[in-house]
Amino acid sequence: MIDKRECVFRGNEKQVYATSDPHMVIFRYTDVTIAYNNIKRARFRGKGALDNRISALLLDYLNGNGVETHYVKTVGPDEQLCRKIEIIPLQVVVHNRIAGSLAVRLGVDDGFRPANTVVDLRYNNDELEDPFINRDHAVALGLATYQELDGMYDIARKANDLLKELFHRAGIELVDMKIEFGRASDNGEIIISDEISPDTCRLWDEKSGERLDKDRFRLDLGDVTESYRTVLERLESVLEIDEE
Ligand code: C5P
Repeated sequence: MIDKRECVFRGNEKQVYATSDPHMVIFRYTDVTIAYNNIKRARFRGKGALDNRISALLLDYLNGNGVETHYVKTVGPDEQLCRKIEIIPLQVVVHNRIAGSLAVRLGVDDGFRPANTVVDLRYNNDELEDPFINRDHAVALGLATYQELDGMYDIARKANDLLKELFHRAGIELVDMKIEFGRASDNGEIIISDEISPDTCRLWDEKSGERLDKDRFRLDLGDVTESYRTVLERLESVLEIDEE
């Protein structure tokens, strides 16, 4: 039995609690959502629980398919038990299509389909507004070695391949996705940390092109929780079919 202890990180969208096991934490997803580096902010009742369930399902799917993540098990409607990690303040963003800020940066239409898969690196730093950096910058800042960065890129591509296929079976296109990593406190292994959910991915309905992710909030499209619920229900039905 693992007991929940004091809060060790209090963010807007998430809180992290220590536990009686020094190598485990409890992640709690809140109903608060923020965008544009905290300029836009709102609360959607039930969104934390949806993020918790979607993220649990996706991280568990990766764990079961050879991609190690921090997720261990769900312990409450909005809480999950996770391996404790030392944060690596990098965001690895995988783009199957070019959308959002990258489309603006490259001067292409939102939704442009590149021939390759594009992987970007950002420095997770609120004060600097998460700037795009390259591998040399990450090494210069002492955030990771070149070898570790190679490993993170490989994991990100593998996770993208697995999740792109899973979402496709649910009639959803994985347009892009942000992944974060950490060093597991028990063995130092670099594993996927944080969440993977409609807050951190662009997810477009394959038939209608409708956005089913945080862009509904960013772009004031409405139906935020309804869209997240659609994502959850479709993923659950695909995974239930697998279990039969
Ligand atoms: O904002 P941008 O277009 O660069 O986002 C690319 C992808 O990374 C999107 O799926 C977005 O949801 C995700 N992202 C994120 N957290 C950030 C920035 C982007 O999850 N701080």
